[in-house]
Formats: sequence, structure tokens, C-alpha cells
Amino acid sequence: MLLTLQALQAARCGVSKPKLLSTRPLFPEARAILDANCEVEYWQHPERIPRAELLKRTAEKDALVCLLTEKVDEELLNAAPKLRIASTVSVGFDNIDVPACTRHKVVATNTPGVLDDTTADFAWTLLMAIARRVIEGDAWLRSGTWPGWDLDQVCGGDVWGKTLGIIGFGRIGRGVARRAQGFNMRILYTDAVRAPAEAEKELHAEFVDRDTLFREADFITIHVPLMPETRHLICKENLDKMKRTAYLVNTSRGPVVDEAALAEALENRKIAGAALDVFENEPKVNPALIPRKDVILTPHIASASVETRTKMAVMAANNVAALLKGQRPPNALNAAELGLK
Ligand SMILES: NC(=O)c1ccc[n+]([C@@H]2O[C@H](COP(=O)([O-])OP(=O)(O)OC[C@H]3O[C@@H](n4cnc5c(N)ncnc54)[C@H](O)[C@@H]3O)[C@@H](O)[C@H]2O)c1
Repeated sequence: MLLTLQALQAARCGVSKPKLLSTRPLFPEARAILDANCEVEYWQHPERIPRAELLKRTAEKDALVCLLTEKVDEELLNAAPKLRIASTVSVGFDNIDVPACTRHKVVATNTPGVLDDTTADFAWTLLMAIARRVIEGDAWLRSGTWPGWDLDQVCGGDVWGKTLGIIGFGRIGRGVARRAQGFNMRILYTDAVRAPAEAEKELHAEFVDRDTLFREADFITIHVPLMPETRHLICKENLDKMKRTAYLVNTSRGPVVDEAALAEALENRKIAGAALDVFENEPKVNPALIPRKDVILTPHIASASVETRTKMAVMAANNVAALLKGQRPPNALNAAELGLK
């Protein structure tokens, strides 16, 4: 446990500060905010906090800062009767049972907006890398077996001028579309909600039904949240609709893609390749994908720039600080349900 100077001073003065558990040491900028407002216990070990420890250490806490790897569910909320806020350092909040938080009068918060560009950059990194076989080429060169230039080596697919299909046209999906403008691409998108006409016009994006997107896109990039409706959205049936020359990029959440169906589609050359940053059962990856050259696998790093991860942690800390000061946390997910003004 790391007790801060302020907490020690407060304890000496007999004023007790709200107690908080942070399941990671975070970054100094975020720690400064938390330490000024709470008595903080940071989980300092390199390994992820075990579930039993999480339940034990949250029991007497007023606030929790967690990562997407920690589940805030009915069990945790029952074990933490004093908890007032669960602040996840991620935009995706499928780790938090928000209705359960509302029932327990716990404010749930996330970190939207600050990671859009960094994540959109990475979706493009994967898209370019899988189309142009960058990882494969790098591995070949390093193996010492590259004989020198030849006409038909490591030929991939073009990106420029092709059709980009975006599933989930929210903050990150639109960021991906914005980056496509320089590549002279046709941009298709599908979403549960159609974007305003100005956004479509600005990004030269065409709203289509899902079937059209699967059939016509050369690149499909996924940016939906994980929900019951999006689980296995990429399934055998939809993979079968894709072009044999098409590529799939997933930087959303792993369970949106049925990994076994994807491995089968690749094996049967139903699609040309896939680049995945997220996995169904992290940190595990379907073993059928591992040896494949037509797949790029990255360890859930789409938002992993120092600047952005710092901003995310600061945002999570500010959500806690606001609540403890009696203000509405800026990113409360259940503000309306809890009647927060
Ligand atoms: N790999 C990473 O490190 C990383 C980083 C950031 C975000 N993410 C993931 O990306 C997701 C998207 O983030 P965002 O900030 O763009 O979210 P967002 O809420 O701005 O956009 C999500 C879009 O998906 C749409 N949508 C929701 N349900 C749908 C459905 N059933 N069918 C079609 N469209 C649907 C929404 O209408 C919205 O437009 C997050 O939820 C998170 O899980 C992953």
C-alpha cells in the first residue's frame, strides 16, 4: 500500500479522506489528482490484481479506478457497500455492469474522446501493414534468407483507391474515415444510428446496410462497442459475404470477432488477411491464428501512446475527483439514471 503525504497529514489531523483503490499505479499526472483527493491504495505488483484481492481491497473503499481487465459486477458491488464510483481507464466499458452500478448507486465512468486519434492511427497502421505484408517482409529480411530484390516478392494489395468499410461510425470510426481521405478511397459505413448529413458530407462517407458493406468493402475495420448485439458480429455467415481479396481489421473488442470462424475463413482463402489488436479470450489467442502469415496480431495496443494513456489516466482520476468534490463526474455513464445534475 502506498499512502501519500497528504493522506498521512490528513490522518494526523484526524480528517479522514475518502479511500480509493487503483488497480494500477497509473501515471504521475493522474496520481497527483488522486493523491490530492483521496487516501489511495495502488496495486503495485506487475501481475494483474487477482479477483479475490480486488474484492478484498475494494471492500472498504469509496472509489475504484480500474482497467478494462477488471470486472465491476454485482459480486464486486455487493462486496463494496461504501463504493460511490467505479472509474475505468478505457473508453470501452464492457467490463462494467452499468445497470448493476445504478442499482447500487455507484457512478460508473469511462474515458471517451482522448484516445480517438491514437486509436484511429493504429487501425490505419494495421490496415496498411496487413495489406502491404510489412511484418512478413520484416521477418523475411531478419531471417537472413532474402536473396535481394525480385519482381514478385511479398506483393500485397493496394490501399489507395479501394473501398473502405467502417462498422461503427462513432468517434474512432470517423477518425479512421478522416484518415482515408488522402487515399482516394470510397468510404462505406454501417452503424446502429445514421450519422448526421454534415458528417457524411465532410468525410465523403456513404451509409449502407451491413450486407452491402460486407460484400463491397476491400477493407473492413470494426469500431463498435462490445454488447450482446455486437458479439460475433464477424461470424462465418458474414465472412462468407466478404470478397476473397478483402482484409479485416479489428481494434474494437475481441469477442466482436468469432476467431474460430475467422481462422477457418483464412484457411479456406475466403478473405485475404486479418489484423487483430484484440482477442476473444485475452491474453489467449486462438492457436489456429498464431502461425498464419496472413494475420497480424498485436497485444491490445491501439491506444498505447504515452500521451494518450496519460490523458486516459488523468481523465479517470478527474472523474473521481469531481464526484468526491460533490460535482457530476464529466464522463458519468449512468448520470441520468442516478439523477446527477
Ligand atoms: N483496441 C483498443 O485499444 C481500443 C481503443 C479505444 C477503443 N476501443 C474500442 O472501440 C470502441 C469504439 O470506441 P468509440 O470511442 O469510437 O465509441 P463510440 O461510442 O463513439 O462509437 C461506437 C459506434 O458504434 C455504434 N454502434 C453501437 N452498437 C452498434 C451495433 N449493434 N451495430 C452497429 N453500430 C453500433 C454506435 O452507434 C457508435 O456510433 C470502444 O467501445 C472500445 O471497445 C478499443
